[in-house]
Amino acid sequence: MIQTQTTRSSLSIADRARIMERWSLFATLLAVVVIMLGAWTRLVDAGLGCPDWPGCYGFLSVPQSTESIAVANARFPETPVDVAKGWPEMIHRYAAGTLGLVVFGLAAYAVRHRREGLPQKLPLFIAAFIVLQGAFGMWTVTLKLWPQVVALHLLGGFTTLSMLTLLTLRLRARHKAPSGRLSLAGLSRFRPWLYGGLALVILQIALGAWTASNYAAVACPELPTCQGEWWPADMDFRHGFDIAQHVGPNYLGGQLTADGRVAIHVTHRLGALILLGYFTVLLGLMWRQARQTEMARHVQLVVLVLAAQITLGIINVAFHIPLPVAVAHNAMGAGLLLAVINLLWRFYGQPQTLAASSQNTTTINREVTA
Ligand code: HEM
Repeated sequence: MIQTQTTRSSLSIADRARIMERWSLFATLLAVVVIMLGAWTRLVDAGLGCPDWPGCYGFLSVPQSTESIAVANARFPETPVDVAKGWPEMIHRYAAGTLGLVVFGLAAYAVRHRREGLPQKLPLFIAAFIVLQGAFGMWTVTLKLWPQVVALHLLGGFTTLSMLTLLTLRLRARHKAPSGRLSLAGLSRFRPWLYGGLALVILQIALGAWTASNYAAVACPELPTCQGEWWPADMDFRHGFDIAQHVGPNYLGGQLTADGRVAIHVTHRLGALILLGYFTVLLGLMWRQARQTEMARHVQLVVLVLAAQITLGIINVAFHIPLPVAVAHNAMGAGLLLAVINLLWRFYGQPQTLAASSQNTTTINREVTA
């Protein structure tokens, strides 16, 4: 329901929702940038470009002058300054810090206008979550790229992005009249299967994060076979998925055996095949019902993003992890997650025309509450 009541000031609730939605959208886009910067930092092996946190060798930015480099090297004699590695790390931290400020601003705005029906719990939860995400950023450095922490930090970034996207969608539903009714005729039965698809996407992203954080990308340098075999005989799943593995002096470049890395890489490929099969059937069935409706473009979006993500994964392997492709594969993984969330959202967030079982059309206008 779009509310137009005026508030104490001259702004209506819809106006406030619009303002907050713009900020939330900005935060969402910034979260994409932060995630991509994180992938870039890892891929140029700059994860330990600054050995401390939140500063860099105790400075606000990367030490550049001869004097500050001398001070930095005296503070951390085991990790001498490498300016080219320090900058990717610090740029990622600056962007993440800015995102944190925007998210706190959103939470403060929601609290300040709490009597005006804006979502409140979600922005507060995102603000709390981003503090945890900052802690994982710190542990990524202080625990020297321990893959468990690196993978959780990546998953935390994707979770933050998903929650910001949901917040943006919810705020949009508050102030924007829907362009047309969304016919869910015959589609509601697919909803639980879409949740299953969402779970598979999350699992596949976690496997991707494990592949990347264990430096298993080049363990299988060719496609579709790996090390010349369809199912390499020496794959070592026990070590590949050992979450108590030791870090060594640090984890840059990885510590796992080659067979462990092959096991991880092959599992990620297998995950992609399962995901592809699942979504081909599910989206194919949905398409038969949805192609004449507003839902069609949301289904198409998932198809496009999934195809792009698989193509990027294949190019990644075939061309031995080119930097832009690897960053794009990370971003498209986030894109796939958002495309599925967006499709699921259509079942909840808009006025819907439910004509599943009869010719009668019932319009349900669901107010999305905080
Ligand atoms: C089907 C959906 C897929 C999803 C959702 C997905 C997701 C991901 C994610 C989130 C990462 C971590 C990226 C990072 O940390 O920068 C990753 C890494 C990787 N993925 Fe995928 N992936 C998919 C399919 C594929 C396919 C089909 C292949 C190849 C056949 C592939 C090959 C790789 C490789 C080699 C890496 C490691 C790249 C690196 O170290 O930067 N992926 N994937």
